[in-house]
Amino acid sequence: MKSRKFLIAGNWKMNKTASDGVDLIKDIVAAVGPQTEVDVAVCPPFTGLESASKALEGSAIKLGAQNMHPKASGAFTGEISAEMLRSLFASYVILGHSERRQYFGETDAFINEKVTAALKNLLKPILCIGETLQERESGKTLDVVKTQLEGGLAGVDASNAVNIVLAYEPVWAIGTGKVATTEQAQEVHAFIRGWLATRFDKAVAGKMRILYGGSMKPSNAPELLAQEDIDGGLIGGASLEAKSFVDLVKAAMSAG
Ligand code: 13P
Repeated sequence: MKSRKFLIAGNWKMNKTASDGVDLIKDIVAAVGPQTEVDVAVCPPFTGLESASKALEGSAIKLGAQNMHPKASGAFTGEISAEMLRSLFASYVILGHSERRQYFGETDAFINEKVTAALKNLLKPILCIGETLQERESGKTLDVVKTQLEGGLAGVDASNAVNIVLAYEPVWAIGTGKVATTEQAQEVHAFIRGWLATRFDKAVAGKMRILYGGSMKPSNAPELLAQEDIDGGLIGGASLEAKSFVDLVKAAMSAG
């Protein structure tokens, strides 16, 4: 029995219109039912958040966003604030996803501003970290992860840290079908937990959830979720269909 509750979160990325999202949520809610053994969240694109929020009413499934701007309001065309997300009853926000880092030039410092703003607004950040293939092949994985942790969590104190979820997503495993081996994943997860114990303390590190992300699906989930330091999954492709997402929730229920 793990001391941390599993979290299975679906990152829909730039997929699903608002109405397609509602259809998917209805199927997920019907299949998952009222269980609270595993925390479950869906993260639609901004345009689907409001209708998703309504579709999730009365269920135990939480709503998350995929990004936000650190400022409270102002002249930031195209951006969304933490307060706007809270007003739609979002609980989580994915921050620092590798696609944001890679395609939109997000730096650790900018991501850190977002983490701080999310916490201030009672949103739980899902902070993504992970190395590229080149970084892994040149033996830099743990250095890269450490730098991203140091930058992303700068200024965060222990009382807030427990509200942060980390997601280790090796960039080379995202959307490629190449999943990290359980040993590769556990090694990095254990390293992250050790770093958190030094940065905060052991009790805090023991409470923080570290998700795995990267080609996670029902077939490989049981093995990954059985690892000591893997506390759930951040799911891309397999979160876009009710059956595979619900099977992942069930895998977490069995692994718990
Ligand atoms: P895939 O599950 O499609 O590999 O995506 C993982 C991911 O990036 C989740 O944030």
